[in-house]
Amino acid sequence: MASDRDLHDLALDIAREAGALALRRRTEGVAIAATKSALADIVTEADREVEALVRARLAAEAPRDGFLGEETGAEVGESGLTWVVDPIDGTVNYAYGMPQYAVSIAVVAGEPDPDRWEAVAAAVYAPAVDEMFHAVRHDGAYLDGARLRVAELTDAGGLIATGFGYDPSTHAGDLAAVGRVLPLARDLRRAGAASLDLSYVAAGRLDGYFERGLQPWDHAAGALIVREAGGRFGRGDADAAGRVLNVAAAPELYDRLFAAALQP
Ligand code: IPD
Repeated sequence: MASDRDLHDLALDIAREAGALALRRRTEGVAIAATKSALADIVTEADREVEALVRARLAAEAPRDGFLGEETGAEVGESGLTWVVDPIDGTVNYAYGMPQYAVSIAVVAGEPDPDRWEAVAAAVYAPAVDEMFHAVRHDGAYLDGARLRVAELTDAGGLIATGFGYDPSTHAGDLAAVGRVLPLARDLRRAGAASLDLSYVAAGRLDGYFERGLQPWDHAAGALIVREAGGRFGRGDADAAGRVLNVAAAPELYDRLFAAALQP
C-alpha cells in the first residue's frame, strides 16, 4: 500500500504535469467548450484535456483508487482512497487570461463525501506563477517546500476573501453575508479560485475565506493545506437550496467569521 508520502509525491507530480499542459493551452488561446449550471459557468477544452491527463496518470499509477473530478464525475475504487480533482479551478480567470487559476488534487480516505472523508495529501498548483501549495496529513503544509503557517490577526481586522456561485438567484444572499462580514475585515478580496483562496489562508496571504455552495473538488485539497498550516476549515449545514457554507481562517478569527457569514 502507498504511504501518505508516496501519495503526496504522486499528487505533486501529476499537478505539475497537468499545470504545464493548462499553461501551454492558455498561451495557444482558450476555447470555451460549453456552459454548465449557468451561462457564467463555463468549461474550456483545456479543463477537459487536463482532467483526461490526470485520469490517465491515475489509471496507470493508482488503478485501484477511486476518482471524483469536476468534468468527468465519480468512479468508485477498491482501495478506500479517492482522488478529488479540479483540473482548472478558476476557469473564468483562465478564460480571461488572469493568472489566478490552479490544478487542485487531493487524495482522501474513506467515503468520497466531504463531510466524512479524511484528506491524506493535497497539491494546489498555480502554473502561471509556478507556485505549488502542498500538504500531507499530520506533516504540515508547504509552499514549494517552505513550511506554511496561518497569519496572526492584528487589530486592523482580517483580509478576507469570498466567492459567489454562478446561479444569479444566490447573489443577494451572498452579498448580504458580505455585509455582515465586512465589520471584521480590513478589506475584502474576490480572486476567483477557491483552491487558491484556501491556500492563501494557509500561507498567511489572507486571514480568512468564506463561500457558500462550493463543490468537493473546489475545497478538498485547500482544506487540508489550511488545517496543516494551523488554520481551521469547516462547513455548515445545507441551506434550503442545498448550499453549504465553507469557512477557513486563522483560529482567532474562525468562529466570528463563521457566525457572520452564516445565513440568519
Ligand atoms: C470556481 C472557483 C470560484 C468559486 C466558484 C467555483 P471553477 O471553480 O473556485 O472562485 O467562487 O464557486 O465554482 O468553476 O473555476 O472550477
